Amino acid sequence: MNTSFFSTIETALPDPILGVTEAFRADPSPDKVNLGVGIYQDGTGAVPLLACVKEAAKRWLAQEDTKAYLPIDGVASFNTATQHNLFGSASQALVEKRVATIQSVGGSGALKLGIEFIRLAFPQTNVYVSDPSWENHRVLFEAAGAKVLTYPYYDPQTSGLRSDAMLETLRAVPSGSVILLHACCHNPTGVDIGKEEWDQVAEICSQRGLIPFLDIAYQGFAVGLDEDAYPIRLFVDKGLTFLVASSYAKSFALYRERAGALSVVTGSSKEAAAVTSQVKKIVRTIYSSPPSYGAQIVSIVLNDPTLREQWINELSAMRTRIQEMRQHFVNELRVALPNHDFSFILKQRGMFSYSGLSAEIVRELRAKNHIYALESGRICVASMNTKNVQYICKSIAEALSK
Ligand code: LMR
Repeated sequence: MNTSFFSTIETALPDPILGVTEAFRADPSPDKVNLGVGIYQDGTGAVPLLACVKEAAKRWLAQEDTKAYLPIDGVASFNTATQHNLFGSASQALVEKRVATIQSVGGSGALKLGIEFIRLAFPQTNVYVSDPSWENHRVLFEAAGAKVLTYPYYDPQTSGLRSDAMLETLRAVPSGSVILLHACCHNPTGVDIGKEEWDQVAEICSQRGLIPFLDIAYQGFAVGLDEDAYPIRLFVDKGLTFLVASSYAKSFALYRERAGALSVVTGSSKEAAAVTSQVKKIVRTIYSSPPSYGAQIVSIVLNDPTLREQWINELSAMRTRIQEMRQHFVNELRVALPNHDFSFILKQRGMFSYSGLSAEIVRELRAKNHIYALESGRICVASMNTKNVQYICKSIAEALSK
């Protein structure tokens, strides 16, 4: 007789991104390369511990004197520093104290808080995500009960943005809909919305009464901290009210510490206080209050001018190395496959290259060459180095030449 309550539970499919890392870890091959998950590795293949983070950790260890719970909305100095990073210190919205910022468990946690808040405030509203978008957006939003639809985004023919189709769709979606937008370094394509189109998106959101939800997980990886926050600052200038999910996983290489925040730009300080109170209730029912360490490290760095400058230099070194590897990757592909044009990869920004490789080719690379990528063809350029890039390109060439 079966006495278990759980005998009918079926095994879930592995996560399309983190599941790739699980398979990679289990592979004993010395040649293996993980181009799946978005994690920056330095030229030696190590995931670095930034010098500014090491220094802040030392200081935090010396000053930490309690393990009492944090407030539900997290470390106040972290939330304020995050606002300055996202909105700019002189932002009118900050001066008017109408931004509610709540520390979250990473960028995914910020998205979760955001969607739960949206479900509470506007239960009937649908969420539009780009086609394609980060694999986790749809599942995360659907898990909260939202209906998820798409707007056109990437054109595989031109390897660019379908701007006209995107804008046309946005003009037609029902008022009150939530529009999830990647502020920079679009995941998975690396194809970003240009300034002119951002202006139009802001205009449409304003005219049609759409609710923008900006996801910024890669601030500093496209051009620079301020430049990458362009849409956030534009939306404030245009008088929009909106949500922002932000993360320090990549920009501080603090992946496992899960330091992120949800910011809601409201119409007044009174509204901001009300929103904060509601999001705090949501936090309480999911994890009660956030962890401390990652947020304290970020706060120490961002609130010390010398450490902040060191961080900006380390961030820009990561960005530069990725750009160099992108160039290397394209150069090597040109040698290995002279009849293919991969120059579009140079226009993509951030950690990823949307390579155009089919799921079949990706599976073959994994089985034969121990190279792990996403079945969508997304490749993490930030995992490449001068030692593995040739092997990667040779393997791709072999697979494509059949
Ligand atoms: C990615 O897209 O690889 C990263 O954002 C990591 C993740 O959680 O999926």
